Amino acid sequence: MNTREISEKINAVKKEKNAIILAHYYQIPEIQDIADYIGDSLNLAQKAKETKADIILFCGVHFMGETAKILNPEKKVIIPDINAGCSLADSCKYSDFKEFKAKYPDHMVISYINCSAEIKTLSDIICTSGNALQIVKSLPENQKIIFAPDKNLGGYVNRMTGRNMVLWDGSCEVHELLTAEYTIKMKMKNPDAVLIAHPECNNAVLEIADFVGSTQAMIKYVNNSKNRKFLVATESGIIHQLVKDNPDKEFIVVTQSETCACNDCRHMKLNTMEKVLDSLENERYEISLSNDLIKKAEKPILKMLDISKQLGIIK
Ligand code: 13P
Ligand code: SF4
Repeated sequence: MNTREISEKINAVKKEKNAIILAHYYQIPEIQDIADYIGDSLNLAQKAKETKADIILFCGVHFMGETAKILNPEKKVIIPDINAGCSLADSCKYSDFKEFKAKYPDHMVISYINCSAEIKTLSDIICTSGNALQIVKSLPENQKIIFAPDKNLGGYVNRMTGRNMVLWDGSCEVHELLTAEYTIKMKMKNPDAVLIAHPECNNAVLEIADFVGSTQAMIKYVNNSKNRKFLVATESGIIHQLVKDNPDKEFIVVTQSETCACNDCRHMKLNTMEKVLDSLENERYEISLSNDLIKKAEKPILKMLDISKQLGIIK
């Protein structure tokens, strides 16, 4: 079957089963095009909560499927490839984090959504890169905070708010590889380009960026910008939507070096059109979590959605 035939089949099975496809901006273009909704982690969590579909097929990585399941315990949540994990989520194991947390008994825990359901149960509020700054700002200045698992996003929030959150030492293997040194070289080669970066990049890259934001925020920034050329410091999947929205603008993916154009997240890119079809037809790979785990992990996610609504970040 060619891609068009697979797409047609996916649409037919989706209709027959009353399924919805949610896809992250880091998915391959074909999957983004077949999705009912594309978004960043925050928007996708919100969509997962609102859907009336019986089956949610989440094209992203495992923790995103888990989040959808936590918000929809009665629905079937499936992902195309059970091995699509996340280096950031994997850097924070339950028992290690429990021990870490115990060292700071008077701190509250804010966890980036890129973590396992178990880590969510140890958290007071979940955040995404689309609301981390505002959520932290909304808390009293003297509130002591542990931020996990992304030290780069946490460090960025610390610098922007003047807080001193205790950071878990985790990072994203894709963003972590980008260096300020090579990014500056790319800037020098493209002096007319605006540098936009995801907050999972390290401090040195963020410091030289013209704009820092979640994938959705980066797209919004570009869509509203009068500039015509952009250096994009995040996973390469975002380029598809940027080009779709802005066919007249030029996008250059920031890479780690001249010889390595490896800005693909190997987990996100495990999902293929064939796997999406297989997933829908055979209703696999199902995310199943115990009721107890769901109950405990749901609380900090709902808190995030509530605060985000109160602050007007989402509707
Ligand atoms: P956002 O979806 O919040 O932009 O985060 C990107 C990411 O790393 C997802 O894995
Ligand atoms: Fe995890 Fe990084 Fe891949 Fe996002 S891009 S899923 S944070 S490894």
